[in-house]
Amino acid sequence: MNQTSSIVVGVAPAASRGFRMRSLRKTVLLAILVSVVLVLALLHSWPTRVYTTVDVSQHPGSVLDKHLEDRLPEPDHRLGNIPYRLREGVAGLLARNGCVCEGKSASVNLPFSQLLFPRVSAHSLHTAFKASELEDMKERRAKEYQSFQMRSQSPADVLLIAEPNNPLQYPTQGVEVRPLKTILIPGLALQDTHKENYSLNITAMLGTLNVAAEVEGVKVKGDGEMHMTLSSNLLPNLNRQLQFVTYTNTLFHPSTADTVQLETEGHQAVFIIKIRHGATPKLYNTGPKGEYNISALVTIATKTFLRYDKLQDLIDSVRRYYPTVTIVIADDSENPKTVSGPHIEHYIMPFGKGWFAGRNLAVSQVTTKYVLWVDDDFIFTSNTKLEKLVDVLERTTLDLVGGAVREVTGYTATYRQTISIEPGEEDGDCLHLRRGFHHVIQGFPNCVVTDGVINFFLARTEKVQQVGFDPRLARVAHLEFFIDGLGSLHVGSCDDVVVNHATKIKLPWVSQSESDKTYGKFRYPPASSDATHTKNGLLFFKNRFQCLTHN
Ligand SMILES: *[C@@H]1O[C@H](CO)[C@@H](O)[C@H](O)[C@H]1NC(C)=O
Ligand SMILES: *[C@@H]1O[C@H](CO)[C@@H](O)[C@H](O)[C@H]1NC(C)=O
Ligand SMILES: *[C@@H]1O[C@H](CO)[C@@H](O)[C@H](O)[C@H]1NC(C)=O
Repeated sequence: MNQTSSIVVGVAPAASRGFRMRSLRKTVLLAILVSVVLVLALLHSWPTRVYTTVDVSQHPGSVLDKHLEDRLPEPDHRLGNIPYRLREGVAGLLARNGCVCEGKSASVNLPFSQLLFPRVSAHSLHTAFKASELEDMKERRAKEYQSFQMRSQSPADVLLIAEPNNPLQYPTQGVEVRPLKTILIPGLALQDTHKENYSLNITAMLGTLNVAAEVEGVKVKGDGEMHMTLSSNLLPNLNRQLQFVTYTNTLFHPSTADTVQLETEGHQAVFIIKIRHGATPKLYNTGPKGEYNISALVTIATKTFLRYDKLQDLIDSVRRYYPTVTIVIADDSENPKTVSGPHIEHYIMPFGKGWFAGRNLAVSQVTTKYVLWVDDDFIFTSNTKLEKLVDVLERTTLDLVGGAVREVTGYTATYRQTISIEPGEEDGDCLHLRRGFHHVIQGFPNCVVTDGVINFFLARTEKVQQVGFDPRLARVAHLEFFIDGLGSLHVGSCDDVVVNHATKIKLPWVSQSESDKTYGKFRYPPASSDATHTKNGLLFFKNRFQCLTHN
Protein backbone atom coordinates (compact mmCIF):
# COMPACT_ATOMS: atom_id res chain seq x y z
CA MET A 1 0.00 0.00 0.00
CA ASN A 2 1.34 3.47 -0.79
CA GLN A 3 0.34 4.93 2.64
CA THR A 4 3.11 2.90 4.25
CA SER A 5 5.79 4.71 2.28
CA SER A 6 4.69 8.13 3.67
CA ILE A 7 5.33 6.88 7.25
CA VAL A 8 8.89 6.04 6.32
CA VAL A 9 9.39 9.53 4.90
CA GLY A 10 7.95 11.10 8.11
CA VAL A 11 10.48 9.50 10.50
CA ALA A 12 13.54 10.54 8.51
CA PRO A 13 16.19 12.19 10.78
CA ALA A 14 16.31 16.03 10.92
CA ALA A 15 19.15 18.43 11.88
CA SER A 16 18.03 20.93 14.63
CA ARG A 17 16.31 20.03 17.94
CA GLY A 18 13.39 22.44 17.40
CA PHE A 19 12.97 21.19 13.98
CA ARG A 20 13.07 17.67 15.41
CA MET A 21 10.23 18.51 17.89
CA ARG A 22 8.11 20.04 15.21
CA SER A 23 8.97 17.25 12.89
CA LEU A 24 8.04 14.69 15.60
CA ARG A 25 4.62 16.33 16.14
CA LYS A 26 4.18 16.42 12.42
CA THR A 27 5.13 12.79 12.24
CA VAL A 28 2.64 11.77 14.93
CA LEU A 29 -0.11 13.73 13.19
CA LEU A 30 0.80 12.19 9.89
CA ALA A 31 0.88 8.70 11.44
CA ILE A 32 -2.62 9.21 12.92
CA LEU A 33 -3.90 10.45 9.60
CA VAL A 34 -2.39 7.51 7.80
CA SER A 35 -3.89 5.05 10.32
CA VAL A 36 -7.32 6.52 9.83
CA VAL A 37 -6.98 6.24 6.05
CA LEU A 38 -5.71 2.68 6.45
CA VAL A 39 -8.60 1.68 8.71
CA LEU A 40 -11.09 3.25 6.30
CA ALA A 41 -9.49 1.47 3.38
CA LEU A 42 -9.56 -1.81 5.30
CA LEU A 43 -13.20 -1.32 6.25
CA HIS A 44 -14.02 -0.58 2.66
CA SER A 45 -12.36 -3.69 1.29
CA TRP A 46 -13.62 -5.96 4.09
CA PRO A 47 -16.01 -8.56 2.70
CA THR A 48 -19.47 -7.22 3.34
CA ARG A 49 -21.28 -10.31 2.11
CA VAL A 50 -23.79 -11.62 4.58
CA TYR A 51 -23.84 -15.39 4.64
CA THR A 52 -27.13 -17.17 4.91
CA THR A 53 -27.10 -20.52 6.62
CA VAL A 54 -28.08 -23.66 4.81
CA ASP A 55 -29.15 -26.74 6.71
CA VAL A 56 -26.94 -29.51 5.34
CA SER A 57 -27.59 -31.83 8.25
CA GLN A 58 -30.81 -32.89 6.65
CA HIS A 59 -31.68 -32.96 3.01
CA PRO A 60 -34.33 -30.43 1.94
CA GLY A 61 -35.89 -33.33 0.06
CA SER A 62 -37.37 -34.80 3.20
CA VAL A 63 -39.30 -31.61 3.89
CA LEU A 64 -40.69 -31.78 0.39
CA ASP A 65 -41.63 -35.44 0.46
CA LYS A 66 -44.84 -34.78 2.30
CA HIS A 67 -45.68 -31.87 0.07
CA LEU A 68 -45.12 -33.99 -3.02
CA GLU A 69 -47.04 -36.95 -1.67
CA ASP A 70 -50.00 -34.67 -1.31
CA ARG A 71 -49.74 -33.93 -4.99
CA LEU A 72 -50.21 -37.53 -6.10
CA PRO A 73 -53.72 -37.79 -7.53
CA GLU A 74 -56.33 -39.25 -5.26
CA PRO A 75 -57.04 -42.81 -6.33
CA ASP A 76 -60.33 -42.87 -8.17
CA HIS A 77 -62.65 -44.98 -6.04
CA ARG A 78 -64.81 -45.89 -9.02
CA LEU A 79 -61.84 -47.81 -10.52
CA GLY A 80 -61.52 -50.05 -7.47
CA ASN A 81 -64.64 -51.99 -8.43
CA ILE A 82 -63.54 -52.91 -11.95
CA PRO A 83 -62.31 -56.53 -11.93
CA TYR A 84 -59.04 -57.74 -13.50
CA ARG A 85 -57.20 -61.01 -14.13
CA LEU A 86 -53.54 -61.26 -13.02
CA ARG A 87 -50.83 -62.30 -15.52
CA GLU A 88 -48.63 -64.44 -13.29
CA GLY A 89 -45.72 -64.43 -15.75
CA VAL A 90 -45.50 -60.66 -15.83
CA ALA A 91 -46.60 -59.85 -12.30
CA GLY A 92 -43.95 -62.26 -11.01
CA LEU A 93 -41.25 -60.08 -12.57
CA LEU A 94 -42.20 -57.12 -10.39
CA ALA A 95 -40.15 -56.52 -7.28
CA ARG A 96 -41.59 -58.27 -4.28
CA ASN A 97 -41.83 -56.79 -0.83
CA GLY A 98 -38.48 -57.88 0.51
CA CYS A 99 -36.14 -60.33 -1.16
CA VAL A 100 -35.03 -63.89 -0.46
CA CYS A 101 -31.96 -65.90 -1.42
CA GLU A 102 -32.93 -69.36 -2.59
CA GLY A 103 -30.49 -72.08 -3.59
CA LYS A 104 -31.28 -75.05 -5.78
CA SER A 105 -30.39 -78.55 -4.64
CA ALA A 106 -28.41 -80.68 -7.08
CA SER A 107 -30.53 -83.00 -9.22
CA VAL A 108 -27.68 -85.45 -9.76
CA ASN A 109 -24.94 -85.94 -7.24
CA LEU A 110 -21.94 -86.91 -9.31
CA PRO A 111 -18.34 -85.82 -9.07
CA PHE A 112 -17.78 -82.72 -11.24
CA SER A 113 -21.55 -82.12 -11.42
CA GLN A 114 -20.96 -78.61 -10.04
CA LEU A 115 -18.56 -77.96 -12.91
CA LEU A 116 -20.87 -79.34 -15.56
CA PHE A 117 -24.20 -78.05 -14.26
CA PRO A 118 -23.38 -75.16 -11.96
CA ARG A 119 -26.19 -74.92 -9.48
CA VAL A 120 -27.20 -71.94 -7.45
CA SER A 121 -26.19 -71.92 -3.82
CA ALA A 122 -27.39 -69.44 -1.20
CA HIS A 123 -25.54 -68.03 1.79
CA SER A 124 -26.66 -65.92 4.70
CA LEU A 125 -24.20 -63.21 5.60
CA HIS A 126 -25.19 -62.52 9.21
CA THR A 127 -23.19 -65.60 10.18
CA ALA A 128 -20.14 -63.33 10.05
CA PHE A 129 -21.22 -62.07 13.47
CA LYS A 130 -21.82 -63.73 16.82
CA ALA A 131 -25.48 -64.02 17.77
CA SER A 132 -24.85 -61.73 20.75
CA GLU A 133 -23.53 -58.87 18.60
CA LEU A 134 -25.89 -59.26 15.63
CA GLU A 135 -28.71 -57.06 16.89
CA ASP A 136 -26.26 -54.31 17.72
CA MET A 137 -24.70 -54.61 14.23
CA LYS A 138 -28.11 -54.37 12.57
CA GLU A 139 -28.97 -51.26 14.53
CA ARG A 140 -25.71 -49.53 13.65
CA ARG A 141 -26.08 -50.53 10.01
CA ALA A 142 -29.60 -49.11 9.91
CA LYS A 143 -28.35 -45.80 11.28
CA GLU A 144 -25.55 -45.55 8.72
CA TYR A 145 -27.91 -46.56 5.93
CA GLN A 146 -30.38 -43.87 6.85
CA SER A 147 -27.77 -41.15 6.64
CA PHE A 148 -26.48 -42.62 3.36
CA GLN A 149 -29.97 -42.30 1.92
CA MET A 150 -30.23 -38.72 3.08
CA ARG A 151 -26.93 -37.88 1.41
CA SER A 152 -27.71 -39.62 -1.84
CA GLN A 153 -31.29 -38.65 -2.55
CA SER A 154 -32.55 -35.39 -4.00
CA PRO A 155 -36.01 -34.00 -4.75
CA ALA A 156 -35.20 -34.73 -8.40
CA ASP A 157 -35.66 -38.45 -7.61
CA VAL A 158 -39.21 -38.05 -6.36
CA LEU A 159 -42.12 -39.25 -8.45
CA LEU A 160 -44.09 -36.42 -10.08
CA ILE A 161 -47.35 -36.89 -11.94
CA ALA A 162 -48.82 -34.33 -14.34
CA GLU A 163 -52.55 -33.85 -14.04
CA PRO A 164 -54.81 -34.09 -17.10
CA ASN A 165 -56.32 -30.96 -18.69
CA ASN A 166 -54.07 -28.60 -16.84
CA PRO A 167 -53.95 -25.14 -18.45
CA LEU A 168 -50.44 -24.63 -17.07
CA GLN A 169 -47.49 -25.16 -19.40
CA TYR A 170 -44.11 -25.80 -17.79
CA PRO A 171 -40.85 -27.69 -18.34
CA THR A 172 -41.04 -31.32 -17.16
CA GLN A 173 -37.30 -31.95 -17.09
CA GLY A 174 -33.94 -30.57 -18.08
CA VAL A 175 -33.96 -27.25 -16.22
CA GLU A 176 -30.67 -26.76 -14.46
CA VAL A 177 -28.92 -23.93 -12.66
CA ARG A 178 -25.39 -23.63 -11.31
CA PRO A 179 -25.21 -22.91 -7.55
CA LEU A 180 -26.22 -19.33 -6.68
CA LYS A 181 -26.65 -18.40 -10.36
CA THR A 182 -29.68 -17.18 -12.34
CA ILE A 183 -31.52 -18.69 -15.31
CA LEU A 184 -34.62 -17.92 -17.36
CA ILE A 185 -37.22 -20.60 -16.68
CA PRO A 186 -38.10 -21.93 -20.15
CA GLY A 187 -41.54 -22.97 -21.35
CA LEU A 188 -43.87 -21.25 -18.87
CA ALA A 189 -47.33 -20.38 -20.24
CA LEU A 190 -50.99 -20.33 -19.35
CA GLN A 191 -53.68 -21.52 -21.78
CA ASP A 192 -56.93 -20.67 -20.14
CA THR A 193 -60.48 -19.99 -21.23
CA HIS A 194 -61.65 -16.40 -21.25
CA LYS A 195 -61.54 -14.65 -17.90
CA GLU A 196 -61.74 -11.15 -16.49
CA ASN A 197 -58.44 -11.47 -14.71
CA TYR A 198 -55.71 -14.08 -15.20
CA SER A 199 -53.43 -14.73 -12.27
CA LEU A 200 -50.58 -17.12 -11.65
CA ASN A 201 -48.43 -17.90 -8.59
CA ILE A 202 -44.91 -19.29 -8.74
CA THR A 203 -43.25 -20.58 -5.57
CA ALA A 204 -39.66 -21.79 -5.14
CA MET A 205 -38.01 -23.36 -2.08
CA LEU A 206 -34.26 -22.84 -2.49
CA GLY A 207 -34.18 -19.64 -4.53
CA THR A 208 -35.95 -16.49 -5.61
CA LEU A 209 -38.08 -15.56 -8.60
CA ASN A 210 -37.99 -12.40 -10.64
CA VAL A 211 -38.66 -11.03 -14.13
CA ALA A 212 -35.85 -10.05 -16.51
CA ALA A 213 -38.18 -7.63 -18.32
CA GLU A 214 -41.52 -5.97 -17.61
CA VAL A 215 -44.48 -6.35 -19.92
CA GLU A 216 -47.22 -3.73 -20.12
CA GLY A 217 -50.54 -4.64 -18.56
CA VAL A 218 -49.07 -7.26 -16.23
CA LYS A 219 -48.92 -6.80 -12.49
CA VAL A 220 -45.93 -8.46 -10.79
CA LYS A 221 -45.99 -8.99 -7.04
CA GLY A 222 -43.27 -10.59 -4.91
CA ASP A 223 -40.49 -10.24 -7.48
CA GLY A 224 -37.14 -11.04 -5.91
CA GLU A 225 -38.84 -13.31 -3.42
CA MET A 226 -39.61 -17.01 -3.20
CA HIS A 227 -43.27 -16.47 -3.95
CA MET A 228 -44.23 -14.35 -6.98
CA THR A 229 -47.70 -13.51 -8.33
CA LEU A 230 -48.28 -12.42 -11.93
CA SER A 231 -51.66 -11.11 -12.97
CA SER A 232 -53.21 -9.44 -16.01
CA ASN A 233 -56.54 -9.18 -17.77
CA LEU A 234 -54.77 -9.79 -21.10
CA LEU A 235 -53.70 -13.41 -21.56
CA PRO A 236 -51.14 -12.76 -24.37
CA ASN A 237 -49.44 -10.14 -22.21
CA LEU A 238 -49.28 -12.51 -19.26
CA ASN A 239 -47.76 -15.19 -21.48
CA ARG A 240 -45.22 -12.72 -22.84
CA GLN A 241 -44.33 -11.84 -19.25
CA LEU A 242 -43.93 -15.54 -18.39
CA GLN A 243 -41.13 -15.79 -20.98
CA PHE A 244 -39.07 -13.43 -18.82
CA VAL A 245 -39.43 -15.21 -15.49
CA THR A 246 -36.05 -15.91 -13.87
CA TYR A 247 -34.96 -18.22 -11.09
CA THR A 248 -31.98 -17.43 -8.86
CA ASN A 249 -30.61 -20.13 -6.60
CA THR A 250 -29.93 -18.71 -3.12
CA LEU A 251 -29.44 -21.85 -1.02
CA PHE A 252 -26.97 -24.42 -2.23
CA HIS A 253 -25.79 -27.72 -1.03
CA PRO A 254 -24.23 -30.15 -3.44
CA SER A 255 -26.35 -31.77 -6.14
CA THR A 256 -29.76 -30.86 -4.90
CA ALA A 257 -32.87 -29.70 -6.72
CA ASP A 258 -35.52 -27.08 -6.18
CA THR A 259 -39.19 -27.92 -6.42
CA VAL A 260 -41.03 -25.06 -8.09
CA GLN A 261 -44.75 -24.86 -7.67
CA LEU A 262 -46.96 -23.25 -10.28
CA GLU A 263 -50.51 -22.32 -9.42
CA THR A 264 -53.47 -20.76 -11.11
CA GLU A 265 -57.09 -20.78 -10.05
CA GLY A 266 -58.04 -24.42 -9.53
CA HIS A 267 -54.84 -25.92 -10.97
CA GLN A 268 -51.40 -26.74 -9.68
CA ALA A 269 -48.21 -28.08 -11.19
CA VAL A 270 -44.77 -28.86 -9.82
CA PHE A 271 -41.48 -29.03 -11.66
CA ILE A 272 -37.86 -29.55 -10.71
CA ILE A 273 -34.84 -27.31 -11.23
CA LYS A 274 -31.60 -29.18 -10.69
CA ILE A 275 -28.94 -27.23 -8.81
CA ARG A 276 -25.40 -28.44 -9.32
CA HIS A 277 -21.91 -27.62 -10.49
CA GLY A 278 -21.03 -28.95 -13.91
CA ALA A 279 -18.93 -32.11 -13.84
CA THR A 280 -15.25 -31.17 -13.96
CA PRO A 281 -13.64 -33.28 -16.64
CA LYS A 282 -10.30 -35.00 -16.21
CA LEU A 283 -8.84 -35.30 -19.68
CA TYR A 284 -5.69 -37.08 -20.79
CA ASN A 285 -3.54 -36.09 -23.74
CA THR A 286 -3.33 -39.27 -25.82
CA GLY A 287 -0.76 -37.93 -28.28
CA PRO A 288 -0.95 -37.49 -32.04
CA LYS A 289 -3.55 -39.29 -34.16
CA GLY A 290 -2.71 -42.64 -35.66
CA GLU A 291 -1.86 -45.92 -33.99
CA TYR A 292 -2.39 -46.20 -30.24
CA ASN A 293 0.84 -45.45 -28.37
CA ILE A 294 0.48 -47.95 -25.54
CA SER A 295 3.34 -46.43 -23.51
CA ALA A 296 1.58 -43.08 -23.48
CA LEU A 297 -1.88 -44.51 -22.81
CA VAL A 298 -1.44 -47.47 -20.47
CA THR A 299 0.27 -48.24 -17.17
CA ILE A 300 0.51 -51.86 -16.07
CA ALA A 301 -0.25 -52.32 -12.37
CA THR A 302 0.36 -55.41 -10.30
CA LYS A 303 0.71 -56.51 -6.70
CA THR A 304 3.35 -58.97 -5.63
CA PHE A 305 3.94 -60.97 -2.49
CA LEU A 306 7.04 -63.17 -2.20
CA ARG A 307 6.94 -64.41 -5.80
CA TYR A 308 9.90 -62.48 -7.28
CA ASP A 309 10.73 -65.18 -9.84
CA LYS A 310 7.20 -65.02 -11.26
CA LEU A 311 7.24 -61.21 -11.22
CA GLN A 312 10.49 -61.15 -13.19
CA ASP A 313 9.00 -63.52 -15.79
CA LEU A 314 6.03 -61.15 -16.11
CA ILE A 315 8.28 -58.10 -16.54
CA ASP A 316 10.43 -59.90 -19.13
CA SER A 317 7.37 -60.97 -21.10
CA VAL A 318 5.91 -57.43 -21.03
CA ARG A 319 9.21 -55.96 -22.24
CA ARG A 320 9.26 -58.28 -25.25
CA TYR A 321 6.10 -56.55 -26.57
CA TYR A 322 5.99 -53.18 -24.79
CA PRO A 323 9.56 -52.07 -23.99
CA THR A 324 8.63 -48.62 -22.65
CA VAL A 325 5.28 -49.10 -20.91
CA THR A 326 5.38 -48.17 -17.21
CA ILE A 327 4.94 -51.03 -14.74
CA VAL A 328 3.79 -50.16 -11.21
CA ILE A 329 4.41 -52.83 -8.58
CA ALA A 330 2.99 -52.83 -5.05
CA ASP A 331 4.89 -55.19 -2.78
CA ASP A 332 4.03 -56.24 0.78
CA SER A 333 6.61 -59.02 1.17
CA GLU A 334 8.32 -59.38 4.56
CA ASN A 335 11.85 -59.03 3.18
CA PRO A 336 11.37 -57.08 -0.02
CA LYS A 337 13.93 -57.54 -2.78
CA THR A 338 14.89 -54.83 -5.23
CA VAL A 339 12.98 -54.83 -8.48
CA SER A 340 14.48 -52.29 -10.81
CA GLY A 341 14.79 -51.39 -14.44
CA PRO A 342 13.64 -48.70 -16.81
CA HIS A 343 9.95 -47.72 -16.56
CA ILE A 344 9.46 -49.71 -13.35
CA GLU A 345 8.04 -48.23 -10.14
CA HIS A 346 8.36 -50.54 -7.14
CA TYR A 347 6.38 -49.54 -4.02
CA ILE A 348 7.21 -51.33 -0.79
CA MET A 349 4.33 -51.67 1.67
CA PRO A 350 4.16 -52.84 5.29
CA PHE A 351 4.36 -56.62 5.51
CA GLY A 352 1.17 -58.49 4.67
CA LYS A 353 -0.99 -55.37 4.03
CA GLY A 354 -2.88 -57.49 1.62
CA TRP A 355 -4.31 -57.95 -1.76
CA PHE A 356 -6.74 -55.03 -2.13
CA ALA A 357 -4.50 -52.60 -0.26
CA GLY A 358 -1.81 -53.36 -2.83
CA ARG A 359 -4.17 -52.91 -5.75
CA ASN A 360 -5.27 -49.60 -4.30
CA LEU A 361 -1.73 -48.36 -3.86
CA ALA A 362 -0.64 -49.42 -7.35
CA VAL A 363 -3.66 -47.85 -9.03
CA SER A 364 -3.27 -44.62 -7.04
CA GLN A 365 0.13 -44.02 -8.68
CA VAL A 366 -1.05 -44.34 -12.28
CA THR A 367 -0.92 -41.15 -14.36
CA THR A 368 -1.97 -42.50 -17.77
CA LYS A 369 -5.52 -42.56 -19.11
CA TYR A 370 -5.79 -46.32 -18.71
CA VAL A 371 -4.54 -48.85 -16.21
CA LEU A 372 -4.08 -52.54 -16.99
CA TRP A 373 -4.44 -54.84 -14.02
CA VAL A 374 -2.42 -58.08 -14.12
CA ASP A 375 -1.50 -60.65 -11.48
CA ASP A 376 2.20 -61.13 -10.82
CA ASP A 377 2.17 -64.65 -12.24
CA PHE A 378 0.82 -63.73 -15.68
CA ILE A 379 2.89 -63.95 -18.88
CA PHE A 380 2.38 -61.74 -21.93
CA THR A 381 2.33 -63.50 -25.31
CA SER A 382 1.69 -62.39 -28.87
CA ASN A 383 -2.03 -62.78 -28.05
CA THR A 384 -1.81 -60.11 -25.35
CA LYS A 385 -2.73 -57.25 -27.68
CA LEU A 386 -3.36 -54.28 -25.43
CA GLU A 387 -4.19 -52.19 -28.53
CA LYS A 388 -7.43 -54.17 -28.89
CA LEU A 389 -8.52 -53.41 -25.33
CA VAL A 390 -7.60 -49.73 -25.75
CA ASP A 391 -9.64 -49.64 -28.95
CA VAL A 392 -12.71 -50.96 -27.12
CA LEU A 393 -12.45 -48.28 -24.42
CA GLU A 394 -11.68 -45.52 -26.94
CA ARG A 395 -14.69 -46.37 -29.08
CA THR A 396 -17.34 -47.26 -26.51
CA THR A 397 -18.68 -45.83 -23.26
CA LEU A 398 -17.31 -48.79 -21.28
CA ASP A 399 -15.11 -47.94 -18.28
CA LEU A 400 -13.44 -51.30 -17.89
CA VAL A 401 -12.88 -54.24 -20.20
CA GLY A 402 -11.60 -57.66 -19.17
CA GLY A 403 -9.58 -60.08 -21.27
CA ALA A 404 -9.04 -63.81 -21.01
CA VAL A 405 -6.54 -65.82 -18.96
CA ARG A 406 -5.11 -69.02 -20.38
CA GLU A 407 -4.15 -71.69 -17.86
CA VAL A 408 -1.18 -74.03 -18.27
CA THR A 409 -3.67 -76.75 -19.13
CA GLY A 410 -4.85 -74.76 -22.16
CA TYR A 411 -8.17 -73.86 -20.56
CA THR A 412 -9.05 -70.19 -21.18
CA ALA A 413 -11.28 -68.28 -18.77
CA THR A 414 -12.98 -64.89 -18.92
CA TYR A 415 -14.83 -65.31 -15.60
CA ARG A 416 -17.78 -63.17 -16.69
CA GLN A 417 -20.25 -62.48 -13.91
CA THR A 418 -23.53 -60.67 -13.76
CA ILE A 419 -24.39 -58.98 -10.50
CA SER A 420 -27.89 -58.00 -9.49
CA ILE A 421 -29.21 -56.54 -6.30
CA GLU A 422 -32.77 -57.16 -5.26
CA PRO A 423 -34.08 -54.60 -2.78
CA GLY A 424 -34.99 -55.99 0.62
CA GLU A 425 -36.49 -54.49 3.71
CA GLU A 426 -34.87 -53.91 7.12
CA ASP A 427 -32.83 -57.11 6.85
CA GLY A 428 -30.95 -55.73 3.85
CA ASP A 429 -30.81 -56.41 0.13
CA CYS A 430 -30.15 -59.70 -1.67
CA LEU A 431 -27.05 -60.07 -3.84
CA HIS A 432 -27.18 -62.42 -6.81
CA LEU A 433 -24.05 -63.42 -8.72
CA ARG A 434 -24.35 -65.53 -11.89
CA ARG A 435 -21.90 -66.61 -14.54
CA GLY A 436 -22.61 -64.93 -17.84
CA PHE A 437 -23.16 -61.57 -19.47
CA HIS A 438 -25.90 -59.23 -20.72
CA HIS A 439 -25.27 -58.37 -24.38
CA VAL A 440 -22.77 -58.74 -27.20
CA ILE A 441 -21.22 -55.36 -28.10
CA GLN A 442 -22.01 -54.10 -31.57
CA GLY A 443 -18.88 -53.77 -33.72
CA PHE A 444 -16.88 -55.99 -31.33
CA PRO A 445 -18.07 -59.56 -31.88
CA ASN A 446 -15.63 -60.92 -29.28
CA CYS A 447 -16.80 -58.55 -26.56
CA VAL A 448 -19.81 -58.53 -24.26
CA VAL A 449 -21.35 -56.27 -21.62
CA THR A 450 -21.33 -57.78 -18.15
CA ASP A 451 -20.84 -56.70 -14.50
CA GLY A 452 -17.68 -58.47 -13.34
CA VAL A 453 -14.61 -59.91 -15.08
CA ILE A 454 -11.37 -61.80 -14.45
CA ASN A 455 -8.34 -60.09 -12.82
CA PHE A 456 -6.88 -59.13 -16.17
CA PHE A 457 -8.55 -55.93 -17.28
CA LEU A 458 -7.95 -52.52 -18.79
CA ALA A 459 -9.85 -49.64 -17.20
CA ARG A 460 -10.19 -45.89 -17.17
CA THR A 461 -7.80 -44.95 -14.37
CA GLU A 462 -10.09 -42.29 -12.96
CA LYS A 463 -13.06 -44.64 -12.66
CA VAL A 464 -11.07 -47.39 -10.95
CA GLN A 465 -9.68 -44.84 -8.50
CA GLN A 466 -13.21 -43.63 -7.74
CA VAL A 467 -14.49 -47.10 -6.89
CA GLY A 468 -11.28 -48.13 -5.12
CA PHE A 469 -10.25 -51.47 -3.70
CA ASP A 470 -11.36 -51.83 -0.10
CA PRO A 471 -8.11 -52.38 1.79
CA ARG A 472 -9.97 -54.31 4.47
CA LEU A 473 -10.18 -57.19 1.99
CA ALA A 474 -6.71 -58.52 2.58
CA ARG A 475 -6.65 -62.09 1.30
CA VAL A 476 -9.43 -63.51 -0.84
CA ALA A 477 -11.18 -60.85 -2.88
CA HIS A 478 -11.94 -59.97 -6.41
CA LEU A 479 -15.64 -59.60 -7.23
CA GLU A 480 -16.01 -57.25 -4.25
CA PHE A 481 -14.50 -54.49 -6.40
CA PHE A 482 -17.19 -55.00 -9.03
CA ILE A 483 -19.91 -55.14 -6.38
CA ASP A 484 -18.71 -51.77 -5.02
CA GLY A 485 -18.59 -50.45 -8.59
CA LEU A 486 -22.04 -51.69 -9.65
CA GLY A 487 -24.00 -48.67 -10.85
CA SER A 488 -20.93 -46.58 -11.65
CA LEU A 489 -18.64 -48.92 -13.61
CA HIS A 490 -19.71 -49.88 -17.12
CA VAL A 491 -18.02 -53.24 -17.65
CA GLY A 492 -17.19 -55.31 -20.73
CA SER A 493 -15.25 -58.47 -21.48
CA CYS A 494 -13.41 -59.61 -24.63
CA ASP A 495 -12.12 -63.12 -25.14
CA ASP A 496 -9.67 -62.35 -27.96
CA VAL A 497 -7.04 -60.67 -25.79
CA VAL A 498 -5.32 -63.43 -23.86
CA VAL A 499 -2.66 -63.45 -21.16
CA ASN A 500 -1.06 -66.68 -19.94
CA HIS A 501 -1.19 -67.83 -16.35
CA ALA A 502 2.14 -69.24 -15.18
CA THR A 503 0.78 -71.69 -12.62
CA LYS A 504 -2.17 -72.06 -10.42
CA ILE A 505 -3.26 -75.62 -10.14
CA LYS A 506 -1.34 -77.21 -7.30
CA LEU A 507 -0.27 -80.70 -8.28
CA PRO A 508 0.42 -82.75 -5.13
CA TRP A 509 3.32 -84.71 -6.67
CA VAL A 510 5.20 -81.55 -7.66
CA SER A 511 7.15 -80.20 -4.70
CA GLN A 512 6.51 -76.50 -4.09
CA SER A 513 9.24 -74.01 -3.42
CA GLU A 514 9.41 -72.51 0.08
CA SER A 515 8.05 -69.13 -1.10
CA ASP A 516 5.19 -70.84 -2.96
CA LYS A 517 4.20 -72.60 0.27
CA THR A 518 4.17 -69.38 2.30
CA TYR A 519 2.30 -67.67 -0.52
CA GLY A 520 -0.35 -70.40 -0.53
CA LYS A 521 -0.86 -70.04 3.20
CA PHE A 522 -1.60 -66.31 2.89
CA ARG A 523 -3.45 -66.31 -0.38
CA TYR A 524 -5.72 -69.33 0.04
CA PRO A 525 -6.82 -69.47 3.65
CA PRO A 526 -9.34 -72.16 4.68
CA ALA A 527 -13.02 -71.34 4.07
CA SER A 528 -13.89 -71.00 7.77
CA SER A 529 -11.12 -68.50 8.43
CA ASP A 530 -11.14 -64.88 9.56
CA ALA A 531 -10.73 -63.78 5.93
CA THR A 532 -14.09 -65.26 4.97
CA HIS A 533 -15.65 -63.69 8.04
CA THR A 534 -14.24 -60.29 7.11
CA LYS A 535 -15.57 -60.67 3.61
CA ASN A 536 -19.07 -61.65 4.71
CA GLY A 537 -19.02 -58.99 7.41
CA LEU A 538 -18.28 -56.30 4.83
CA LEU A 539 -21.00 -57.53 2.48
CA PHE A 540 -23.39 -57.51 5.42
CA PHE A 541 -22.49 -54.15 6.92
CA LYS A 542 -20.80 -52.03 4.26
CA ASN A 543 -22.96 -53.08 1.32
CA ARG A 544 -26.04 -53.82 3.45
CA PHE A 545 -26.76 -57.27 2.03
CA GLN A 546 -28.55 -59.95 4.00
CA CYS A 547 -27.62 -62.87 1.80
CA LEU A 548 -26.13 -63.87 -1.51
CA THR A 549 -26.68 -66.51 -4.16
CA HIS A 550 -24.20 -67.61 -6.81
CA ASN A 551 -23.55 -70.46 -9.20
C1 LIG B 1 -56.16 -9.85 -10.59
O1 LIG B 1 -56.34 -10.61 -9.40
C2 LIG B 1 -55.29 -10.51 -8.45
C3 LIG B 1 -55.62 -11.43 -7.32
O2 LIG B 1 -56.01 -12.69 -7.81
C4 LIG B 1 -55.18 -9.09 -7.96
O3 LIG B 1 -54.12 -8.97 -7.03
C5 LIG B 1 -54.95 -8.17 -9.14
O4 LIG B 1 -54.96 -6.85 -8.73
C6 LIG B 1 -55.97 -8.38 -10.23
N1 LIG B 1 -55.50 -7.71 -11.39
C7 LIG B 1 -56.32 -6.94 -12.16
C8 LIG B 1 -55.68 -6.27 -13.31
O5 LIG B 1 -57.48 -6.82 -11.91
C1 LIG C 1 -51.51 -16.77 -4.98
O1 LIG C 1 -50.89 -16.54 -3.73
C2 LIG C 1 -51.64 -15.66 -2.89
C3 LIG C 1 -50.82 -15.50 -1.61
O2 LIG C 1 -49.61 -14.89 -1.90
C4 LIG C 1 -53.01 -16.22 -2.58
O3 LIG C 1 -53.74 -15.30 -1.83
C5 LIG C 1 -53.72 -16.50 -3.90
O4 LIG C 1 -54.94 -17.14 -3.64
C6 LIG C 1 -52.87 -17.37 -4.80
N1 LIG C 1 -53.51 -17.49 -6.10
C7 LIG C 1 -53.74 -18.65 -6.68
C8 LIG C 1 -54.35 -18.61 -8.04
O5 LIG C 1 -53.49 -19.71 -6.16
C1 LIG D 1 4.85 -42.98 -27.10
O1 LIG D 1 4.75 -42.41 -25.80
C2 LIG D 1 5.97 -42.38 -25.08
C3 LIG D 1 5.68 -41.93 -23.69
O2 LIG D 1 4.83 -40.82 -23.64
C4 LIG D 1 6.96 -41.49 -25.82
O3 LIG D 1 8.18 -41.45 -25.13
C5 LIG D 1 7.17 -42.03 -27.22
O4 LIG D 1 8.00 -41.17 -27.96
C6 LIG D 1 5.84 -42.21 -27.95
N1 LIG D 1 6.07 -42.93 -29.20
C7 LIG D 1 5.60 -42.51 -30.36
C8 LIG D 1 5.88 -43.38 -31.53
O5 LIG D 1 4.96 -41.47 -30.45
